[in-house]
Amino acid sequence: MKPIAFHLNGEKVSIAVEPHWTLLQVLRDVLHLTGTHRGCETGDCGACTVILDGLAVNSCLILAVEVEGRSVVTIEGLAREGELDPVQKAFVDRGAIQCGFCTPGMVMASKALLQKNPSPTREEISFRLAGNICRCTGYTKIIEAVIAASKTGNSQK
Ligand code: FES
Ligand code: FES
Repeated sequence: MKPIAFHLNGEKVSIAVEPHWTLLQVLRDVLHLTGTHRGCETGDCGACTVILDGLAVNSCLILAVEVEGRSVVTIEGLAREGELDPVQKAFVDRGAIQCGFCTPGMVMASKALLQKNPSPTREEISFRLAGNICRCTGYTKIIEAVIAASKTGNSQK
């Protein structure tokens, strides 16, 4: 086992991991943060998306040892004092959630996009969410939710 320390949702975490464990494994199976979903585990579905140092990444493709000293944000880190993040709220309000399996990954990919670009075009949103698969919604409501979140003006916080 190798000791690692990193920031997770604003808190410092120190744990020991096997060198072959993925970040997804550590989040779900060690730290019990099950909001990050396990889909394909091959980088194809986006269900496991988290934000690593400001960038959306597939946590199934990142080894836990790679996050040493870095900052990870998961879906559990978005709500503040019981208030949903504006991106989460927009997904709820716009009906962008059906079964919900893809939702944490979609929200995290959208959040990372809006932090970099607070006013993306519809085309930019489609491009940035291309790595996130949804089998239910047909994507239209998801894109509308991201546009709505961008219009709140505080979606990038
Ligand atoms: S579980 Fe990571 S991309 Fe599908
Ligand atoms: S809401 Fe079911 S997979 Fe997206």
